[in-house]
Amino acid sequence: LTKAFLFDLDGVIVDTAIYHYQAWKRLANELGFDISEEFNERLKGVSRTESLDLILEHGGLSLPDEKKTELATQKNEWYLELVSRMTSDDILPGVATFFAQVRKAGLRTALGSVSKNAPLILERVGMTDAFDAIIDGTKISKGKPDPEVFTKGAAELGVSPSECVVFEDAVAGVEAGKRGGMFVVGIGSPDVLTQADLVAPSLEALTVEEVLAKSNA
Ligand code: G6P
Ligand code: MG
Repeated sequence: LTKAFLFDLDGVIVDTAIYHYQAWKRLANELGFDISEEFNERLKGVSRTESLDLILEHGGLSLPDEKKTELATQKNEWYLELVSRMTSDDILPGVATFFAQVRKAGLRTALGSVSKNAPLILERVGMTDAFDAIIDGTKISKGKPDPEVFTKGAAELGVSPSECVVFEDAVAGVEAGKRGGMFVVGIGSPDVLTQADLVAPSLEALTVEEVLAKSNA
């Protein structure tokens, strides 16, 4: 029986996925190549260093570690510039209503994000208190598609993986939830999130009742 909902942050709760993309694109452009939106799907849910490796490979570049650290720091500075303008207005449509239903249903909640900036973003949009547990990029050793970020969330909430539903917009994140033995709701397109148990375009398109009916079936 479902007891907890575990949420990804970027692209599920707030639209920071677009900021990550803009910052990576700017970096790629400075290095003399471009990244497409389609390529960007491969970066979603993937850690900062792994994302940089994928981008450099895409551009056919091989750089020393020192340079890579410098580039990752530069990308994060640009990203933080975009994030610093965020307010509660940046919470995605339907999130507030959905969380009210989650509380009413007595479910526990955890954040499962690979982002080291996750706590800062939750503070900016005023959602820190919406989560009973927060697992971010500083608390894990393996990023998605490894299930660690979600299994740690479940452990912190004191529930088993089969009692959890994961909400994810990334291919790597959906895989992480499935590998963790959880029911996964994909937020996005069914053509992209093929491994998800259920797919909706946003939390606005879902009710808690509907999710529970499927996860408990
Ligand atoms: C999330 C995003 C990724 C991002 C990663 C690391 O998983 O979906 O696009 O690369 O977090 O974020 P950070 O804020 O630590 O660079
Ligand atoms: Mg995401």
